[in-house]
Amino acid sequence: MCGIIGYVGNQDIVPILIEGLKKLEYRGYDSAGIAILNGDDIQIRRVEGKIKGLEDSLRDEKLTGTYGIGHTRWATHGRPSEENAHPHRDCTQSIVVVHNGIIENYLEIKKTLKDEEHKFVTETDTEVIAHLIEKYYNNSLESAVQKAVKELVGNFAISAVSKNEKDTIVTAKVGPPTVIGLGDGENFISSDLNPLLFHTQEIIFLEDGEMAVVKPDSVRFSDFEGNSIEKTAEHISWSPLMVEKQGYKHFMLKEIFEQPQVIRDTISGRISLDTGKVFLEEIGIPESTLKKINRIVIIACGTSYNAGLVGKCMIETLAGVPTDVVYASEYRYEDFILDKHTLAIPVSQSGETADTLAAFKSSIEKSNPSLAICNVQNSSISRVADGVLLTHAGPEIGVAATKTFLAQMAALALLAIHFANIRGKLSPKDNILLMKELQLIPHKIEEILMRAKEIEEIAQLFVSHSHFLYLGRWASFPIALEGALKLKEISYIHAEGYPGGEMKHGPIALIDEKMPTMVIIPKDRVYDKMLSNISEIKTRVGYVLAVAFEDDQEILDKVDKVIPIPVTHPLFSPFLTTVPLQLFAYYIASIRGADVDQPRNLAKSVTVE
Ligand code: F6R
Repeated sequence: MCGIIGYVGNQDIVPILIEGLKKLEYRGYDSAGIAILNGDDIQIRRVEGKIKGLEDSLRDEKLTGTYGIGHTRWATHGRPSEENAHPHRDCTQSIVVVHNGIIENYLEIKKTLKDEEHKFVTETDTEVIAHLIEKYYNNSLESAVQKAVKELVGNFAISAVSKNEKDTIVTAKVGPPTVIGLGDGENFISSDLNPLLFHTQEIIFLEDGEMAVVKPDSVRFSDFEGNSIEKTAEHISWSPLMVEKQGYKHFMLKEIFEQPQVIRDTISGRISLDTGKVFLEEIGIPESTLKKINRIVIIACGTSYNAGLVGKCMIETLAGVPTDVVYASEYRYEDFILDKHTLAIPVSQSGETADTLAAFKSSIEKSNPSLAICNVQNSSISRVADGVLLTHAGPEIGVAATKTFLAQMAALALLAIHFANIRGKLSPKDNILLMKELQLIPHKIEEILMRAKEIEEIAQLFVSHSHFLYLGRWASFPIALEGALKLKEISYIHAEGYPGGEMKHGPIALIDEKMPTMVIIPKDRVYDKMLSNISEIKTRVGYVLAVAFEDDQEILDKVDKVIPIPVTHPLFSPFLTTVPLQLFAYYIASIRGADVDQPRNLAKSVTVE
């Protein structure tokens, strides 16, 4: 939700801000803008639409300065327009602000400020911050920001500059992430690590209630009362190459092809093929505590929720621990019936999703302990949890989650086997067999990826369809949800994911020759049931595509088309069935000319409620 970049130093500032914004564009892309200062005046450029438009508008203009801020927006208050694009100014036109988040009491503040003769020119909540800083400005931007943020209710990451304070950016946060990159005679501010990796790997994460005064040779931290805070930099191992397309047409395609490596990275060093043991000491929760867990609640949104559903199947089947998977956005308003033997597991790629964070924070008031599954080290969710199981997927730039979904399932598989081990639920033989099968998954995904061209040809047949049904049961039901989610979010084709057995309770009415069905049917405990569901569709002249094991002969004359996948343990089939569905959605969207990496109306990290 919105991306912020800031730079102070001696390099050519426009390319730094523009390239930085491009790396943040997945966070929001309704409009964009920059402010560049040199101590005498402020130069602002803003456009409705994507960063490309901003870049084009700057091509013939040479803006120079030594400090500046930029913003890419995902609109909440005020429609996307040049006027509502950030940065926003105060009445004196000497203070400029960019903001990520929502100011809940902005109407109240705006009224007071209007009564005090401040003039507003936009519909945004952000503009009140610029005017509040103006109100409190008395030769110190730092103290004006301090006073202003104390009046704000909501969540915000802001960066502010003044033309009266050369080479100074003041940043503050409550909620959305802010990271500071430390350079040599230059420093950076960003909403995430991606833009910084090109300049520095020495990073400081700002915590809620903290602010920083960033100058070329120093960064000073304090709380909102002005008490100074000592913070040390961390060295980040992600490399700049990870956030480049490396020859792929889209990030999404690159990320789909990275999946074998992502699974290897997520399981490597954490399993023993000889003993079947899972090593999870890194999570820092003692085995004695885990042994007492009698219930798990997985809290997540979107694709991470779907991964949670697969996790539930694995955990319940292997370890026998009752597991609920809840939508964070709903759960946060429920009654939190948890006790100290309940393990809360937030699952989140970004670790910043506002609903997941809020539901998780409320749940840990009653549950104990908690374990976050996150892809971003040091993210808000991982900082709140007792333990963290990192998915080593690397940065995911495509807005539609792909590789992180598989990485989350891999982390949940490790957890399921670990719980099964400590509860004595798996025989040594089954344990080792499972481990060996898990280790083969990356190779089996590679086999599917080698057939990407065939999947593209199949996708070609469906580019003009308007509706799709995805059916699966048991461990394949979440994959039906995920397949449908991928198709709808990147191609804008209406798609529904359903449990096969529920079809007859309503959706079957939709079946006709214009409504194809994608069936996910590995050989598992519900295989025969799924065959019956297929026959219900065929009887009603529906077209059926199936993702099935390659040794499955029976399916061949039951459906219209089969996408074969290698055979695996039924519980691990989601790792394989997902991949053709990702490719299918990708190719349909790409052939339709959709903006695959930045689908309309979406943003990658949803840091507002
Ligand atoms: C879909 C997608 C979203 C996210 C959801 C949760 O492709 O990416 O549904 O899965 O917004 O995000 P995280 O995992 O960052 O909490």
